[in-house]
Amino acid sequence: MGGALYYLYMKRLLASLSLLLLMVSAGAQGLAVDKDTQRIREEFQDRKFGIFLHWGIYSMMADGEWIMHHRNIDCNEYSKLAGGFYPSLFDAHEWTQLFKEAGAQYVTFTSRHHDGFSMWGTKATPYNIVDATPYKRDILGALAEACREQGLKLHLYYSHLDWYRPDYPTGWTHKVPRDESAFNWESYYAFMNRQLTELLTNYGPIGAIWFDGMWDHKEQGFDWRLEEQYALIKRLQPTCLIGNNHHGSPIGVEDFQLFEQDLPGQNTAGFSGEQKISQLPLETCMTMNNSWGYNITDNNYKDGDDLIRRLVTAAGLNANFLLNIGPQPDGKLPEQAVKRLKHIGEFMKVNGSTIYGTRGGCVPPQSWGVTTQKGKMLYIHILNNVEDGQIFLPLTENKLAKVTMFADDTKLKFKREKEGYRIFLPELPKTVDCILTATLKCPPLPH
Ligand code: GLC
Repeated sequence: MGGALYYLYMKRLLASLSLLLLMVSAGAQGLAVDKDTQRIREEFQDRKFGIFLHWGIYSMMADGEWIMHHRNIDCNEYSKLAGGFYPSLFDAHEWTQLFKEAGAQYVTFTSRHHDGFSMWGTKATPYNIVDATPYKRDILGALAEACREQGLKLHLYYSHLDWYRPDYPTGWTHKVPRDESAFNWESYYAFMNRQLTELLTNYGPIGAIWFDGMWDHKEQGFDWRLEEQYALIKRLQPTCLIGNNHHGSPIGVEDFQLFEQDLPGQNTAGFSGEQKISQLPLETCMTMNNSWGYNITDNNYKDGDDLIRRLVTAAGLNANFLLNIGPQPDGKLPEQAVKRLKHIGEFMKVNGSTIYGTRGGCVPPQSWGVTTQKGKMLYIHILNNVEDGQIFLPLTENKLAKVTMFADDTKLKFKREKEGYRIFLPELPKTVDCILTATLKCPPLPH
């Protein structure tokens, strides 16, 4: 290690040691994160790629999960869909095998969406898959078992807002007038906590609870009583992570930060405007077409290579990628989605080691692509066209020892310049992500 580099390294090391001391003293006030929490957060980050599933009785209407809202449907009329829900072709094992082959490491399932219908045999309401449909089987139970078999972690989406229950004090998303005298926050809150208790008691280890819908109440001062609810989750399963799609910066003991339809730092969908990127694990969720729930006319699918590029870019930005599928009402996954999963799977089988277990690399995103990093290994993902046969790597706080093509270990030439390194490329193969492996002289500097 050169003198200047050593000095920098020690300076950073001392800075992080004092931060550690600060955290330990904060620990006395209950603010620091314990070792187990730190470990499960890191394991979550290592998994990098998950499958999001939006499935419920709305799938029968084949126009997304917001159909009840968009078409001003009375909730009692809507609830009659349950009597016809019979996904005769549903096979949890087939699904999870496919997810596994696609390279996914976890599944996030909509246990109860905004329509208020529960996809498990909850005792807290008869409005559920076992008691209200002719199918009568516990879909969540089947999925939990199939995930366990494939070694996939199961995360559960849970809606804070509810378009069905009379006791939920409705917010702006409710268009059909409600009887306000029936609003009863205490009883609704108790209902949610009873359901969460079931979810965290009856289905084995749950990787995360993924909340959504708090934005239904825009008014300041609406108290969701998150602290108590989060404490309940941690009491029931201390290793269950908490994430909340409230579109803001993380609150309280939340373990990861969510970004809807955008990579961290972008705001093309308009949900991330108020989010500062935190130090917590990050997760971007995204649709393959334009819909979360099954939509029979939405064929606007991103192509397979585009999805791979987004996954890799998310990794380069230090985020997990949660890719959505809206299963059909018959229990099959749309063919378009299956085709794309297989395409991603082929890529991940060969290149997964440059993604899983990595963090965003020490070189920030460049016009040519992104970097991921594991210890001294820096993976350079060239995702865009490179015109003059070379790329520039702004790297001054570390040194390059060696650069090779990831695919076949061919050694590449590079040159040190004032602001970093210039790497000379051979004729690059036409591939979605041309990966180079750069070995650094030193392990990553502590942040
Ligand atoms: C939004 C939508 C919801 C969807 C979620 C996924 O919050 O309300 O339908 O489940 O995004 O990120």
